[in-house]
Amino acid sequence: MQLVADHIATKISADIPVWDIDPYDAEILRNPAPYYVELRKRGPFVHIPRYAILACGRFNETREVFSDWQRFVSSRGVGLTDFQVAPSWRKPSIVLEVEPPYHTRTRTVISRALSPRAMSVLKDAFAERANALVDDLVERGEFDVVPDLAEAFPVSVFPAAVGLQEIDTRALVDFGAFGFNALGPDNALRSAALERGPQIMPWIMKHCKREALAPGGFGETIYAAADAGELTEDEAAMLVRSLLSAGVDTTVTGIGNAVWCLASNPGEFEKLKRDPKLARPAFEEALRYTSPVHSFCRTASVDTTVGGVDIPQDTKILCVLGAANLDEDQWPEARYYKVDRRPVGHLAFGVGIHGCVGQNVARAEAEAVLTAIASKVGSIEFVSEPVWRPNNAIHALDSMRVRFTLRNS
Ligand code: HEM
Repeated sequence: MQLVADHIATKISADIPVWDIDPYDAEILRNPAPYYVELRKRGPFVHIPRYAILACGRFNETREVFSDWQRFVSSRGVGLTDFQVAPSWRKPSIVLEVEPPYHTRTRTVISRALSPRAMSVLKDAFAERANALVDDLVERGEFDVVPDLAEAFPVSVFPAAVGLQEIDTRALVDFGAFGFNALGPDNALRSAALERGPQIMPWIMKHCKREALAPGGFGETIYAAADAGELTEDEAAMLVRSLLSAGVDTTVTGIGNAVWCLASNPGEFEKLKRDPKLARPAFEEALRYTSPVHSFCRTASVDTTVGGVDIPQDTKILCVLGAANLDEDQWPEARYYKVDRRPVGHLAFGVGIHGCVGQNVARAEAEAVLTAIASKVGSIEFVSEPVWRPNNAIHALDSMRVRFTLRNS
């Protein structure tokens, strides 16, 4: 058995196009659009020899692999490492990286914590915070969207909703970012992430303990499941931590990318201003258009076939959600951002049993921010060229200086 990039190098059929590319190259991570186009063009799957993986970017095949948890498991890791043959840098997630029946048990508890009822209680607080933040930014005029809005908003509402009583913005945002970088190959991004991890973990561990959490938050519901015997105390603590690892950096990215879409498409922003009820579809379209989680892996648990292509058992498959969400065969004029497209079925939140359990939190946060922007901001102008931050699994901005002008009416 030969291992490459910490997984089994299976014998890939010579019929599958070989593509000598590094999908984790920093330039591709910053500007993935040409890579997405080429990946779809080359076929339903390509063989990338340097990592001994298959990669897919057409909508149908990506959806099939990503959603079929029996043939394409997550429990062997959603990054390049196959937990069956190589150790994980940390304990695998007990929700993202497990299969039923265990998955059903942990997922049920998280879903209960993030229930529509729990969310409806937070809606007003989200709107109030978004309005205050956008008022302040309009008054400042010029600012950097990444720290001042995309990070500032989720960090000020979400950890508190979990029950955290202290906020350390860098620890909270970087906790997600380093976990996502760790999913990639042994490159500079992953090394930096593995170095950063031990610096952040003690803070996260301390603030996610039962006794550290304020009552009434998502965390309390999760610990109540431990009291009821549904989970162990350790499992409850892990689930609370997974809310923070999966729920901060992702929404920071989603909100930043949505503002980038509006700033880049003034005509679409005008439509949103005319009808602020488009805030939610405008966010959904920004997710489709920019895919904050650009790619995650699956591992084939059996010999199987997808889209007429034979896939051997044990193969690691890079599911490029960013490419699938821009597939013209699925989304006519996919290369355009349209606030009123309503892209039902996009893959930015995943699909199937692992589909994002926090999607309603993300939507509620983004809707609050985009509604505030639509009602208060006249125009969004770039002050300088936006800069993207390479990450092995996330497509996020590093900085984006803009000017908000006051809306007249
Ligand atoms: C724009 C924001 C977000 C994006 C783009 C996003 C994206 C995703 C994606 C693509 C998956 C599927 C992973 C897979 O199938 O392997 C996922 C799962 C997950 N997300 Fe999110 N997410 C976002 C926000 C959130 C938030 C706010 C939370 C927590 C409140 C959260 C918690 C989770 C968890 C726990 C899972 C694992 C679910 C499971 O395996 O059953 N996410 N997310």
